[in-house]
Amino acid sequence: MATTTADPLLEAEGITVRFGGLTALNGVSLAVAPGTVVGLIGPNGAGKTTLFNVVSGVVHPQQGRILWKGAPLGDHRPHHLAKRRIARTFQGLNLFPGMTVLDNVIVGADRLASGTMPEMLTGLGRYQRDERRLRERAMAALEEFGIADAARALPGTLPYGVQKQVALARAVVADPQLLLLDEPASGLSGAEITALGKRIREFSEQMGVLLVEHHMDLVMEICDHIVVLNFGEVISAGTPAEIQADPAVTKAYLGADTEEGPDA
Ligand SMILES: Nc1ncnc2c1ncn2[C@@H]1O[C@H](COP(=O)(O)OP(=O)(O)O)[C@@H](O)[C@H]1O
Ligand SMILES: [Mg+2]
Repeated sequence: MATTTADPLLEAEGITVRFGGLTALNGVSLAVAPGTVVGLIGPNGAGKTTLFNVVSGVVHPQQGRILWKGAPLGDHRPHHLAKRRIARTFQGLNLFPGMTVLDNVIVGADRLASGTMPEMLTGLGRYQRDERRLRERAMAALEEFGIADAARALPGTLPYGVQKQVALARAVVADPQLLLLDEPASGLSGAEITALGKRIREFSEQMGVLLVEHHMDLVMEICDHIVVLNFGEVISAGTPAEIQADPAVTKAYLGADTEEGPDA
């Protein structure tokens, strides 16, 4: 297991988000250190994706703050994420359906481009070199994921499991320091989930990972630390063993008004 003594990359402090009369998050705090996988679990509607949206700068909290490497993020917007080296995947796929698999992954590598806007517009100078370099890098990522054969395909023509791999490749191609994964195992087969777990552990050697996931076996197996949300509040936090032994967690899942349940 990875050490937890390193300074956190990401800290959420007392995050409160209201949508009209609904409190989606109520004073939620958590931290992710490099080299660790932190699980964020809880019944449907608990606020997990909303927390990702706050970290991503998509949703701005009414209270609380996000710290990145110890410094508060003031005006935090989605387009700042790549430069800060934070990457995310989305619940569902969120791939560009009209772009090839390779181009989808190149979008994720864009942070690495060095060309200026005029160079990009004229397709000259550094842009040409960038274009080639990003293409090579994206292709290498596809090879690493074992899906290079799918490079020229449109995502919609591929099996769901392969599309999930493409989304993952797009997220990690630019070497993020923090990776946010929103239900990466949903829709995958048992064998695919096992492979995914191994891959996430490998990622965590290079970066911090915040994982939202309903598959409890996977969460318990690969997380160093778990935070449990229910109705927007942290009801438990600790190691997998501590979470499994906490009656408040069982109660939240059993009492949850959800068709999916924790293993869906
Ligand atoms: N943009 C939004 N506008 C209004 N309500 C929202 C919005 N996003 C999420 N919610 C509500 O906030 C609560 C938490 O949602 P979400 O973060 O998606 O939960 P989870 O990911 O844990 O299933 C839910 O009640 C959801 O309906
Ligand atoms: Mg969600």
